Amino acid sequence: MTEPELHIRPADISDIKAIMALEEGSIAHPWTSEEIGTLITDPRKKCLVAVLDGKVVCYAGSETVLDECNIGNLVTDKEYRGRGFASVLMNALLEDLKDSGIKKVFLEVEHDNLPALSLYEKLGFARYGQRRGYYGAGRDAVLMRKEL
Ligand SMILES: CC(C)(COP(=O)(O)OP(=O)(O)OC[C@H]1O[C@@H](n2cnc3c(N)ncnc32)[C@H](O)[C@@H]1OP(=O)(O)O)[C@@H](O)C(=O)NCCC(=O)NCCS
Repeated sequence: MTEPELHIRPADISDIKAIMALEEGSIAHPWTSEEIGTLITDPRKKCLVAVLDGKVVCYAGSETVLDECNIGNLVTDKEYRGRGFASVLMNALLEDLKDSGIKKVFLEVEHDNLPALSLYEKLGFARYGQRRGYYGAGRDAVLMRKEL
């Protein structure tokens, strides 16, 4: 039997529930459905989902200001991690941003989030600073950027 293929597409309103489920299983302060709705519908924002066999297994979101962009969301379903899905989705998002004229991409990641730090470094993001207590006491953010 052949493996089902991962399909990348822009999120739409009908994906909010699935995206919320990804957030709630993985993020300490999950985004609300209103915030996810805005991520999907606001023209300055982009939200892509990776779908496997009809199920949303990973999503990523970004916000653009002029020719710069911040990636504020990336989650893979716990059951589907380590299979390269976030890498495929992030490469698709970066390609999409580049095609839209974005020159620089920024993101923040918690200093001890090793899977995410490793993934972003692999994708070519470089560290340029650290923001103390960004996520709460003793929880620093590593600031990363990449030129497209
Ligand atoms: C970070 C996250 C999105 C990675 O998703 P994923 O689909 O498992 O990632 P991939 O399978 O594409 O892995 C790509 C790379 O990430 C790194 N990585 C992934 N899981 C890792 C782990 N458990 N430990 C160390 N590095 C890891 C590796 O460099 C990996 O490359 P490799 O497979 O060649 O070693 C996922 O762990 C997640 O959803 N975490 C919770 C939410 C979160 O922290 N999001 C980031 C907020 S900034």
